[in-house]
Amino acid sequence: MASKSVALITMSTRGTRVGPTVSAFVEKIIEKPLSSAGITIANVDLVKFNLPVYNEPVAPAMVPEKAQFKYEHSRAWSAEIKKHDGYILVIPEYNYSVAGGTKNAIDYLMNEWKGKPVAIVSYGIHGGATASEQVKGALSGMGLRVAETRPTLSFSQPDVFSAIGGRLGDATTKAWEAEQTVSILKAAEDLKGLLLQPNTPANAPKP
Ligand SMILES: Cc1cc2nc3c(=O)[nH]c(=O)nc-3n(C[C@H](O)[C@H](O)[C@H](O)COP(=O)(O)O)c2cc1C
Repeated sequence: MASKSVALITMSTRGTRVGPTVSAFVEKIIEKPLSSAGITIANVDLVKFNLPVYNEPVAPAMVPEKAQFKYEHSRAWSAEIKKHDGYILVIPEYNYSVAGGTKNAIDYLMNEWKGKPVAIVSYGIHGGATASEQVKGALSGMGLRVAETRPTLSFSQPDVFSAIGGRLGDATTKAWEAEQTVSILKAAEDLKGLLLQPNTPANAPKP
């Protein structure tokens, strides 16, 4: 396979957050199997794009054929997402659902994402399973090809408050290493398989 680029995207945007540490944990597990298949991982941090709540006068589906983005923040996010062949979204769960910032960043674009493969890794007190399901629904509807395996990483009970304070506790790290490595590797394997498949109508995601 010609070399491919996968963006590992930290989707949480709080000032104090555990998201980058979760992304680093995931990267450590998938770096070797992906690089040995000629897939490079690019770290992308959503917070750096400083996206306001969607404020473009056009709909993302109109760009670039029928319209252009007005604002530099949209153009920068668009250029970043366009660069990659696939994605791993590392998402938190807030209030039993997808975080507003995560959904907003997804909503900003359409054609940059469409048809490409994506894996979803969620985390939270209950592993962020509800947010993962919601993001899967949104991305599938938008025409992305979602990897079947979606790891859900739960904080160990004593570490919930340290996560809120931006630190992944030792008990959680140990538990994830023991219990989530297989699932994270499987998600990377699914993504690799999807990257190999051409994006033909036959491979299009089922609604
Ligand atoms: C506004 C808010 C709502 C939250 N709601 C949930 C929730 O519904 N389920 C959950 O598992 N964790 C919830 N949490 C705890 C988060 O899982 C935890 O704070 C985690 O660190 C969030 O990821 P982040 O640090 O990358 O933002 C919530 C945290 C915040 C800040």
